[in-house]
Amino acid sequence: MSAPKTTTHLEILRLLRDRQGCFVSGTALAQRVAISRPGVWKHINRLKQMGYEIESRSGLGYMLVAVPDSLAPGEIVSNLTTRWLAHNYHHLETIGSTNDYALILAAKGAPNGALVVAEQQTKGRGRLQREWMSSPSRGIYLSLLLKDPLPVSVAPQSSYIGALALVKMLREQFAVPATIKWPNDVLINGRKVAGILTEMQSDQDFSRFCVVGIGINVNHSREEMAGPFRYPATSIALETGCAVKRQTVLLEFLSRFEHEYERFLDLGLLALLPEIEKYTEMMGKTITVVCGNREIIGEAHGISSEGALLLMREDGSQESVWAGDVVRIEGAL
Ligand code: BTN
Repeated sequence: MSAPKTTTHLEILRLLRDRQGCFVSGTALAQRVAISRPGVWKHINRLKQMGYEIESRSGLGYMLVAVPDSLAPGEIVSNLTTRWLAHNYHHLETIGSTNDYALILAAKGAPNGALVVAEQQTKGRGRLQREWMSSPSRGIYLSLLLKDPLPVSVAPQSSYIGALALVKMLREQFAVPATIKWPNDVLINGRKVAGILTEMQSDQDFSRFCVVGIGINVNHSREEMAGPFRYPATSIALETGCAVKRQTVLLEFLSRFEHEYERFLDLGLLALLPEIEKYTEMMGKTITVVCGNREIIGEAHGISSEGALLLMREDGSQESVWAGDVVRIEGAL
C-alpha cells in the first residue's frame, strides 16, 4: 500500500481557490484528488484549522470564503514570480532561528535559493548576539540560502542587497520613506522596521554558502514596538496606518531580492552603490560608530566598492569602517 500523500489538503485548496466564491461538490473534489468523500471532509477540517474560512453546505459542497494571512506554501509557492529564489520553500510554525535551520539545510545539501520562513521564532538572533523579537504571525522571519561561490570579502555584501530590495519594496509598494541604516538595518521615519543578519561558511578564499536572515516588522502594534529596544522600532502597519498582508510583503520582497541579487552577481556592488548610497539615511551627516571598544565620529560620505562605510573625521582624515554599530546620527530620533 502506498503512503498517504501529505499534500492532498493543498490540492483541495487549489481546486477551491480556482473556483473561489463558488461551491465545489464533495464528490468532484473526491474524484479530482482520488480519495473518499469522508477523506475530503477530513482535509477540509485541516484547512479550517490552518485558518481558511470554508463554507460547507449540504447538496452544494464546499466554498472557499477567505484565506488566512499565512506564509504556508499553499499561499506563497504558486504565487511566486521569481525564477529560482524560494522555489525550495520551508515553512515552519515555530523554530528557534530560521538562520540556524537554513544552516542545517545547507549542510544537508539544500539547493541555491532555498527559503526558510517561520511564523514565530523562539531564539531569533540579531547582529552582535542580540535577540530579535519574533512574535507569532505578526512579522516575517526568513532566511535565504545563497550558494554562489563568491570571494569571502564579497559574499557578506549580500546584506546590502537585502537592504536595497527591502527599501525599494517599501517605497514602491507601501509609499513609505524607507532608508538604510548602515550596515544592515532598514528604517522608516527614523525607526527600525527590519534587520538583516548574514552568516557565511567558506572554503579558504571563497564562500560555500551565505545565509541571509531578515526580520521584518509587519503588523506589530504600537505597544509591541515600544520596546525596550536599543533603537526605536516600528512596523509597516504603524507607518501606513493599516494592516498589511504579510503574503504581499514576502512575495514582493522575494521578487525584488532576486532581481537585485542577479544585478549584484553580474555587475558587482559598484553598480548598485549609487542607489544604496541614495537611500542610506546617514549620508552627509555626522555619525558616531562603535567598533569593538573604539568610538569613531565623522561625516558619512559614501560606501566603498568593497562595502566599507567611508567617514571623514573633523581633522579631515578618512576612515573606512568595515563593521560596527551606528549609535548616533546627527538630527535623528
Ligand atoms: C539585526 O537587526 O541585528 C538583525 C536581525 C535579523 C533577524 C532575522 S529574523 C530571521 C533570521 N533568523 C534569525 O535568527 N535572525 C534573522
